[in-house]
Amino acid sequence: MKLLAWILASLAVATAHLHTDPTLDNHWELWKKVHGKQYNHKKEDVERRLIWEKNLKLVMLHNLEYSLGLHSYDLGMNHLADMTSEEVAALLTGVKIPHRPDRNSVYRPRPGGNVPDSMDWREKGCVTNVKNQGACGACWAFSAIGALEAQVKLKTGNLVSLSAQNLVDCSMMYGNHGCSGGYMTEAFQYIIDNDGIDSDASYPYMAQNGTCHYNATTRAATCSKFVELPYADEAALKDAIANIGPVSVAIDAKQPTFFLYRTGVYDDPRCTQDVNHGVLAIGYGTLDGKDFWLVKNSWGEYFGDKGYIRMSRNNGNHCGIASYGCYPQI
Ligand SMILES: *[C@@H]1O[C@H](CO)[C@@H](O)[C@H](O)[C@H]1NC(C)=O
Ligand SMILES: *[C@@H]1O[C@H](CO)[C@@H](O)[C@H](O)[C@H]1NC(C)=O
Repeated sequence: MKLLAWILASLAVATAHLHTDPTLDNHWELWKKVHGKQYNHKKEDVERRLIWEKNLKLVMLHNLEYSLGLHSYDLGMNHLADMTSEEVAALLTGVKIPHRPDRNSVYRPRPGGNVPDSMDWREKGCVTNVKNQGACGACWAFSAIGALEAQVKLKTGNLVSLSAQNLVDCSMMYGNHGCSGGYMTEAFQYIIDNDGIDSDASYPYMAQNGTCHYNATTRAATCSKFVELPYADEAALKDAIANIGPVSVAIDAKQPTFFLYRTGVYDDPRCTQDVNHGVLAIGYGTLDGKDFWLVKNSWGEYFGDKGYIRMSRNNGNHCGIASYGCYPQI
């Protein structure tokens, strides 16, 4: 039995090996070196190599089309390029929309409000450095703290990274599941009821479920309420970003073009309204005639454009970005 298993395993490696393209050997080693990748077994190396080659083909063909003027964005072989889109969705997303009949307090744009043509809250010093959630579905926590960080800066003048781990460990009672997913409004509700959230420095991120050890001594923010945006209303989202600050949003991040995005305005017709990932909309604008939302992700600085992605705006609520907007108030 053991021998048979061994033979089958060796065969699997051997046949898989047959399919790797030897002309890519050098570039595979180069890519692994640049991104600090090490695999435990030869078998894993081959498996990752095959996925990487598939992604490479996608990236090269997409970028060829991009150079022919057929796309508004290009792709790149970033640190996620040895993963399938299914793996990315399973490990790196994790928004779970709660089933609630009504929205809490719904945002209404003020008539005659001032809404400029473009916004970027980084220019106002309201956005902390890009974080990396690692192999933990805590996107919802990073989305929530990002929105609150901006409100703290606007109120106190201090820009402080808040603790995503505090939310991962302590907000289970609100329907969140730590590294297995959650939702931004439930994070805000925890901060309201807990009367605070710690700073990231005092309660650092571990990328795994932990036991709650919130300490009021190191509290870095409070929250008094949260507001939800009207469903799928891109005008309201623009107004809220202009007049309030960065807005927590949920998007469909399931396409391979999403995790391999590099620059430009992301617009993939396969993107759906079925959202699975929490991110932060920190601005909007127009690039080469194409309207976009400026979005802060939590997949590290090697994702996209230094951790950010521009996503198509005024394009039928592309990827569902305007469906579940919300923001906290202090
Ligand atoms: C994290 O904790 C939550 C709540 O107890 C649980 O539902 C989830 O399965 C855990 N996830 C992981 C990856 O351990
Ligand atoms: C909370 O933090 C303060 C300051 O770091 C520390 O002195 C105190 O022991 C902590 N409390 C708990 C319960 O860990």
